[in-house]
Amino acid sequence: MELRNDPRFRGITPFAGRIWLSSPTMHGDEQHWVDDAIATNWVSTVGRNIDEVEKAIAEYVGVKYAVGLSAGTAALHLATKLAGERLYGQARPDAGTLAGHRVFCSDVTFDASVNPVAYEDGEAVFIDTERDTWNMDPAALEKAFEMYPDTKLIVLAHLYGTPGKMEEILETAHAHDALVIEDAAESLGAKYRLNGRWTETGALGDYNCISFNGNKIITGSAGGMFLTDSKEDADKVRKWSTQSREAAPWYQHEEIGYNYRMSNIIAGVVRGQLPFLNEHIEQKKAIYERYKKGLKDLPVRMNPYDAEKSVPNFWLSCMLIDEDALAPHVRGEQEELWRHEEGKSSPGEILAALAAFRAEGRPVWKPMHLQPIYRANKFVTAEGNGRGRTNAYIKGTGADVGADLFRRGLCLPSDNKMTPGEQDAVIEIIRRCFD
Ligand SMILES: Cc1ncc(COP(=O)(O)O)c(C=O)c1O
Repeated sequence: MELRNDPRFRGITPFAGRIWLSSPTMHGDEQHWVDDAIATNWVSTVGRNIDEVEKAIAEYVGVKYAVGLSAGTAALHLATKLAGERLYGQARPDAGTLAGHRVFCSDVTFDASVNPVAYEDGEAVFIDTERDTWNMDPAALEKAFEMYPDTKLIVLAHLYGTPGKMEEILETAHAHDALVIEDAAESLGAKYRLNGRWTETGALGDYNCISFNGNKIITGSAGGMFLTDSKEDADKVRKWSTQSREAAPWYQHEEIGYNYRMSNIIAGVVRGQLPFLNEHIEQKKAIYERYKKGLKDLPVRMNPYDAEKSVPNFWLSCMLIDEDALAPHVRGEQEELWRHEEGKSSPGEILAALAAFRAEGRPVWKPMHLQPIYRANKFVTAEGNGRGRTNAYIKGTGADVGADLFRRGLCLPSDNKMTPGEQDAVIEIIRRCFD
């Protein structure tokens, strides 16, 4: 039976238009700055829009330099390469800077955070997740340094716009002379109180990256930025991103180059979005609060954050189903099967029900250590090695927070154009899943 016709959902009508997880929200100024670029013929990877957004973002985040790039992934790649060069020296043109070296990485994140480690020939070691903010677990990070003390680089993301436990992580990083790459792609505008001082995410690491992908809190349709206080690093990234041209009249190259620079057209869209960043955050926060209230008597909880030490940007609202209210379900590599049980539900059932009424949700990001491509990589939990922990004879503790979040969690429709009435209908659909 089609879920829409299930008697549990009687009386609910499909949404007239689709309700998105998180889609671009345009305001009009974007068109003006794109038109301006075209009218002035700056249809290139140079132009005033780029200069202006670099200046405005650097000011907003509180760093000295911002370098506009084609994507957050490009920013992460060049940040990773910079860190590799600083730690281990310049690599041959046909080799990565991290060859033969381990890098400690967030586990529950989008793979763009960690793929640059592989681009640079490094070995990602995935660090398990804590339950208080769903980010890198400082205790697991400590364990990882015990196991692999030579490691000198950490890549961490702030999942869904919620800052991780930066104070503990930076303390551990400093104790081991390790550098930190901060992936703030999902968390632009989120703040963290570091040693008593409020600091924007994107200004907390040695190398920092943001994204203007279409689903982010503000967008350029694409685009990203590298953020830093180091002029030398900013200049290097600018050079690498424009094919590493040397100061010669002809094309002269001493380093491998990339075509990663931001376009002035995309920068025009970002320029139009910038004045609305705080408004978008307020809208996302209202969505989070409305879910929290609307779902409070169900056996679920929202993605948590530390209200004392952080202000998230609330990019995506998520929920986790209580263990004893989780209906049976299994996932293969590309499909899943679920079965309804009275009073219970599962991420698969809820996402199918939302889709039946034209609303988009998504499972919690599948942890990197469970991804086929990274299955051979090391994984460290607060208890130590997280691989090969099942034992035919002894019951293990099974500490694998990321796997648990993936099993029980889902991202809810969090589009800031969703009306309160539409969100109430989403909440009602979720509620009926537990009937
Ligand atoms: C955590 C995280 N890192 C990196 C990226 C990559 O950014 P981009 O799509 O701009 O390359 C994304 C999203 O796309 C992301 O969510």
